[in-house]
Amino acid sequence: MTAHPPALSVRGLNRAFGGLVVAADIDVELARGDRVALIGPNGAGKTTFVNLVSGVLKPSAGRILIDGEDVTARSDVERARRGLVRSFQVSRLFHDLTVREHIELAALQRLGRTDRLFAAIGRMRDIREDVDKLAEDLGLVDVIDRRVETIAYGQQRLVDIAMSLALRPKVLLLDEPAAGVPRPESERILAAIDRLPADIAVLMIEHDMDLVFRFAARVVVLAAGRVVFTGTPAETATDARVRAAYLGSYGQEGARHAG
Ligand SMILES: Nc1ncnc2c1ncn2[C@@H]1O[C@H](COP(=O)(O)OP(=O)(O)OP(=O)(O)O)[C@@H](O)[C@H]1O
Ligand SMILES: [Mg+2]
Repeated sequence: MTAHPPALSVRGLNRAFGGLVVAADIDVELARGDRVALIGPNGAGKTTFVNLVSGVLKPSAGRILIDGEDVTARSDVERARRGLVRSFQVSRLFHDLTVREHIELAALQRLGRTDRLFAAIGRMRDIREDVDKLAEDLGLVDVIDRRVETIAYGQQRLVDIAMSLALRPKVLLLDEPAAGVPRPESERILAAIDRLPADIAVLMIEHDMDLVFRFAARVVVLAAGRVVFTGTPAETATDARVRAAYLGSYGQEGARHAG
């Protein structure tokens, strides 16, 4: 038996914006089935990390491997094709398309195009089944034929997640999927992640420690572009370095959570 390479391996990742260092020698590894929360104060570089790993931004140094394959020189689309998927963002939804059409578009992107009619019919069936299943899992059945501009914000975030899942990721990167989402919908997001096939690796950026505790096996803490701590959620909650990282930006954090 050969051991699997990590689903995602990030090695020595570096990036700065002008003089501001936002990624400093970041090493992160996700095994198959991993559940990792990425936390840290505002401006720590969490979203930038997802942008670098997914291929939206170029690192100044470092390597990114998916399933052992170096994809550092590959585009975001090529990385997605290899199973590295980041959640879409509500701002990217097409407001006059329906929920169903959005999930179908993502499923189509996964299956690619075909010019053989009979293969296409089979694929249409697969897509319809996929869409129905995802709508069911994410509690979107009642709004499936509504245009996304007419549904609640929390439901729009669920559409995001459904689209990401329609791509059948091996590695899923979620940037604050539950931010601004009312409880019932954030519960659905967690439940949908729970139901993912066991071998998908998930990294989720999340500020709500309650959700972090329920979701994550491991927590990575980023501060000023640097990994300052890695441990279990319980270890994270009591670690002095983690507290110091947050205290350094306490005013900002306090302001954000007060709002
Ligand atoms: N394209 C960019 N050009 C210049 N500076 C940027 C750019 N993107 C982000 N930054 C800056 O880099 C730093 C890290 O930003 P990033 O969005 O990664 O933080 P974050 O950890 O996701 O914060 P938050 O918790 O607020 O989402 C911030 O100071 C931000 O202002
Ligand atoms: Mg962010």
